[in-house]
Amino acid sequence: MSACLVSSITEYCYADHQGRTDVLKSWTGNKTPQNTLSWLNSAKNHIVVAVPHGKDYVVGVGLLSDDEISLCYVRHGYANKGVGRLIMSNLELKAAATGISRVHLWSTITAKPFYEKLGYLQRGRPIHIAGLEGSRYEKDL
Ligand SMILES: CC(C)(COP(=O)(O)OP(=O)(O)OC[C@H]1O[C@@H](n2cnc3c(N)ncnc32)[C@H](O)[C@@H]1OP(=O)(O)O)[C@@H](O)C(=O)NCCC(=O)NCCS
Repeated sequence: MSACLVSSITEYCYADHQGRTDVLKSWTGNKTPQNTLSWLNSAKNHIVVAVPHGKDYVVGVGLLSDDEISLCYVRHGYANKGVGRLIMSNLELKAAATGISRVHLWSTITAKPFYEKLGYLQRGRPIHIAGLEGSRYEKDL
C-alpha cells in the first residue's frame, strides 16, 4: 500500500506538488508501511486495495472512514484502466450499506476531473494546506 501511495503522489500529482521536494516530503511522509498497517487495523476504516491477477503488489488504494473518502490512489503505470472507478464504487457501496446517504472527500487538483466524471459536485472554495490545494466534493448515494 505504501509504495502504491507514494508512487501515485510522486508520479501523477505533479499539478499539485509541482516537483517541490518539501511539499512531496510532507505529503508522502506519513504514507509509511507502519502507518498504512495501522490504518488497516483501525475498525473505523474500510480499506480496499487493487492487486493485479497473479501479482503480489498493490496498484490501487481506497479508504472510507465514516462518510469521508480519504484515499483513492492508483499506482504509476495503472491509471486510466478503470482501477480508480472500481475503488470508488466499492467505497460508495460500503458507505450506502452502512446507511450513509452522502459521502465527501477532499480532492487534489489532479483528481478533480475524475471525481466530476463520477458524479461528485464541488462544494465551496478550495483550501490550502502544506502547500497543497484541496477541493471539497460531495456525492449523494
Ligand atoms: C485520480 C485517479 C484515482 C483516477 O484513477 P484511474 O484509475 O486513472 O481512473 P479510471 O480509469 O477508473 O477512470 C474513470 C473515469 O474517469 C475519467 N478520468 C480519470 N482521470 C481523468 C482526468 N484526469 N481527466 C478526465 N477524465 C478522467 C476516465 O476517463 C474514466 O471515464 P470513462 O469510464 O468514461 O472512460 C488516478 O489517476 C490517481 O491515482 N491520481 C493521482 C492520485 C490522486 O490525485 N488521487 C486523488 C486523491 S484526493
